[in-house]
Amino acid sequence: MCYNSAEIKRAERPDHEGSADMKFIKAEKLKEKPADQSKLGFGKIFTDYMLTMKYKDGKWGEPVIEPYGPVAFDLATTVFHYAQGIFEGLKAFKNEKGEVRVFRPEENFKRMNRSAERMCIPLIDEKVVLDGLFELLKIEKDWIPTAPGTALYIRPSIIATNVMLGVHASSEYLFFIILSPVGSYYAHGLEPTRLLVEDYYTRATVGGTGEAKCIANYAVSLKAGEEAEKKGFDQVLWLDANEKKYVEEVGSMNMFFVIGGEVVTPALVGSILPGITRKSSIELLRAHGYKVSERRVSIDEVIEAQKNGTLNEAFGTGTAAVISPVGMMEYKGVDYVVNGGKMGEITKWLYDTITGIQSGRLEDKFGWVVKL
Ligand code: PLP
Ligand code: COI
Repeated sequence: MCYNSAEIKRAERPDHEGSADMKFIKAEKLKEKPADQSKLGFGKIFTDYMLTMKYKDGKWGEPVIEPYGPVAFDLATTVFHYAQGIFEGLKAFKNEKGEVRVFRPEENFKRMNRSAERMCIPLIDEKVVLDGLFELLKIEKDWIPTAPGTALYIRPSIIATNVMLGVHASSEYLFFIILSPVGSYYAHGLEPTRLLVEDYYTRATVGGTGEAKCIANYAVSLKAGEEAEKKGFDQVLWLDANEKKYVEEVGSMNMFFVIGGEVVTPALVGSILPGITRKSSIELLRAHGYKVSERRVSIDEVIEAQKNGTLNEAFGTGTAAVISPVGMMEYKGVDYVVNGGKMGEITKWLYDTITGIQSGRLEDKFGWVVKL
């Protein structure tokens, strides 16, 4: 059975007001927090607690906050065989006053429900999971790092948990949220990235699952990513599946180019993840007076602009990657350097503005930050 928004099975708690009735299981012992925030890396350390919520008998149950730890699954569990699973990624920050700030969390749970619909997963009640997340963050606030460039990365996921080998949507699911204090996604931090333009492998196609944040999208990207890494690149820049002509996105970021006076980002044609950092960047750039076009952009247009000197900047946007300058792209064996391999002016402005709003250094004029 597949689900759509008309069939949403809300957790049966019409009077739900947040923390009052959230089930909490206390850990016997808490872990040591990382001593050196400059060595966090990405997604290697996890906090003391996680949130879980089960779907069974046609409805989601109560969220539970419990000690973080391994969970046993039968090896015939659906998600292991047919990848019926989705996830999200968002971040929480803490400023000098100790205020916890979460960046656009409603957007992530809205997108999670769009992914759920595509993957035949029952929709979640966005308010219930948001309240659950805020409770979890209040308990785990001491884990939020404060060094520049760090954050608490939040990973909500849903996996299919029926024990069966038939190829059908599961009738049971586990929703969970785990938390990880993180530094920079790339080991080299804000140094401009090197991208390999992939003209053989395909990540996603229109009508497929590219615009859903489903776990299988990441499995299919591994082969190209590994080959690119062996050649010394940070990531793959994907082209469209049919013609290998139009730029789509990078494995963990949406792409932007500054060509002449125009900021260009590939249009959301169905095979590209609708990034929340992408959407925020477009809104910020436009509010600042930049011309931003969401349109199809061919790799030939980008290469031509590099050759004639009008490709001023290229950067990626993503929760984990933040705003990441691109210093070089290789296409069909030829290297194309962008902006002398340095971070461009618009990229820097956007990085400073987004991180400023997230941390509270700059005014949040759009009302994007939820303060706990
Ligand atoms: N594209 C892909 C494939 C991603 O995994 C991500 C990360 O979530 C993004 C783009 C950027 O999306 P967001 O800005 O919502 O993190
Ligand atoms: C994110 O930026 O949140 C992502 O999900 C990207 C990646 C770590 C898979």
